[in-house]
Amino acid sequence: MSDALEALLQEGRTFAPSKEFRKQSLVSSAEIYDDADHDWQGFWAHQALELDWHQEWHTILEWDLPFAKWFVGGKLNVSENCLDRHVTAGHGEQVAFHWEGESGDVRSLTYSDMLVEVCRTANALKQLGVAKGDRVAIYMGMVPELPIAMLACARIGAVHSVVFGGFTAQSLKDRINDAQAVALITQDGSWRRGSVFDLKAVVDEALIECPTIAKALVLQRASNDVVMTPGRDHWWHEVVADQATECAAEVMDSEDPLFILYTSGTTGKPKGIVHSTGGYLTQVAYTHKYVFDLHPDTDVYWCTADCGWVTGHSYIVYGPLANRSTSVMYEGTPDYPDKDRFWATVEKYKVSIFYTAPTAIRTFMKWGDEYPLRHDLSSLRLLGSVGEPINPEAWVWYYKAIGGERCPVVDTWWQTETGAIMISALPGATTLKPGSATFPLPGIQAEIIDDSGKTVGVPGGGYLALPRPWPSMLRGVWGDEQRYRDTYWSRFEGKYFAGDGAKTDDEGYFWLLGRVDDIMLVSGHNISTTEVESALVDHPAVAEAAVVGKTDSTTGQAIAAFVTLRAGHDPSDAFVEELRNHVAKLIGPIAKPQSILFTDDLPKTRSGKIMRRLLRNVAEDEQLGDTTTLADPSIVASIKSRYLSAAPSED
Ligand code: WT7
Repeated sequence: MSDALEALLQEGRTFAPSKEFRKQSLVSSAEIYDDADHDWQGFWAHQALELDWHQEWHTILEWDLPFAKWFVGGKLNVSENCLDRHVTAGHGEQVAFHWEGESGDVRSLTYSDMLVEVCRTANALKQLGVAKGDRVAIYMGMVPELPIAMLACARIGAVHSVVFGGFTAQSLKDRINDAQAVALITQDGSWRRGSVFDLKAVVDEALIECPTIAKALVLQRASNDVVMTPGRDHWWHEVVADQATECAAEVMDSEDPLFILYTSGTTGKPKGIVHSTGGYLTQVAYTHKYVFDLHPDTDVYWCTADCGWVTGHSYIVYGPLANRSTSVMYEGTPDYPDKDRFWATVEKYKVSIFYTAPTAIRTFMKWGDEYPLRHDLSSLRLLGSVGEPINPEAWVWYYKAIGGERCPVVDTWWQTETGAIMISALPGATTLKPGSATFPLPGIQAEIIDDSGKTVGVPGGGYLALPRPWPSMLRGVWGDEQRYRDTYWSRFEGKYFAGDGAKTDDEGYFWLLGRVDDIMLVSGHNISTTEVESALVDHPAVAEAAVVGKTDSTTGQAIAAFVTLRAGHDPSDAFVEELRNHVAKLIGPIAKPQSILFTDDLPKTRSGKIMRRLLRNVAEDEQLGDTTTLADPSIVASIKSRYLSAAPSED
């Protein structure tokens, strides 16, 4: 680590909000936590009143564990809240999306433009026979028509199911069939790293076995050759262009489903996570406003996720639009045409709020400082992180190399199932600690419990549980109530179990420790993969690390590490020792990896999460489990062959 970084991290340095940041921030004192604690349901009702309702609710919350209903009796439409009300208030000319195509083509869509496009698309869907309550699958790249399609569904009360535009025909087919979708919205091809990915060909293969799909709406984006099936397939530009530019919004019940989103996480068959209308929109708007300290008249906001993940749903589409943000949306990869694309884009649009994932941050670290240094990033004032625990080293690099030591970094913990951010700093009020997501947001309760479900004191470690309902919580697993109960509510009675381990420090800060399935038991000690990985990444030569437990006859489990080095560093045997000692120094000798394998890349899901389950298969010399959710299946095969030919180092 450089001396400057070392100095920042020393002695667990903390980062209080600067005077300048505090002065302009929406929340600069901790009073809001007391307000929320005092009457948490009233607090949420207050947030819900920020939205436009056709009819107000009669009951804030009906809680019939594990089923919650929020704002019962309330009526609203999500697309009206995201578009119409801003246009009506005189903000029609404000840009909603600065869209940037991968090859450099640009489009600006104002709130008025969005409203017109959403109405046309909604009318087209109706013409194709889609009705309120129907499920519509969306399989697209990152083009403006993707949020337009989502909002068009919301406008007519159809339930969308966005399938990430990199999934295979099999994954698409399974998701369509599980939801029994009646229509599919897609495009001919999407741009990725300078070439065209033939989405329509994947669709054609999937639809052979999707009997419920009657219609497909196909956007022309890449002009690759496609086969249009007569009667089923319709071009977007033929069906949408001539539609009326107005479409009355369906008045929806607060508890009507808004969307289904399939999550496989790192294990098991995908689950269709169902989200609601009123509660969902309330919490995504509230969190987006306060966690990102959004000033809609001046901020330019950019979340780099894909709309195919929940982060895209909540923090590219629904939260930002409900709050009248001006956002950047980008079609391609961060290294096209060069590794500075994100920073060029920040400079070009003067982005002030930037939200990305630790896997991306560690990749940027690996590429080196020269790329952000090429650009003026002084417009940035706030940085966010989501998706995995962010190790302190990556946090500090982000803070320094991207944020210029000026921008608070909010680490936001949540899940597809929680719908919106649950644990995060409020940047004008919270003193930050690199690597900690800090505290549950006002209105949210989170606790750490032991095996028997009893709350552990502060400081302490255990399972992260959510003891009371929150507005954007999942309303179930589509078509499988038992799976909903079993997965989330059976391990600890009366509490939602998130599947993550966590600890608090002596000041009550929350530190996420990764999935509990990943926690290792070495000589009777629980050791979290996250902590060992953080210690490895703390070494200046290490860009990324994944750690798993493997069976060991002496210690129960032994630690096997897989390490990617930063540009300019080469592996050696002496270096293996140095790294093992580095971990011993930071955590203790018990956490020393037994083996370290250097690799150019790690097996990750398409959303960037490391799949430790597969690395465990490698370390245990077992057959590899399901690899279909991997972004690049060849990586794990190459790691496997190299692991088997390397002799694990002895202690
Ligand atoms: C799991 C949920 C949340 C949207 C994207 C991922 C991990 C997420 C953090 C964080 C530590 C985090 C957890 C969680 N996770 N954010 N800030 N710190 N861990 O959604 O695919 O449903 O994954 O991601 O393990 O349970 P998801």
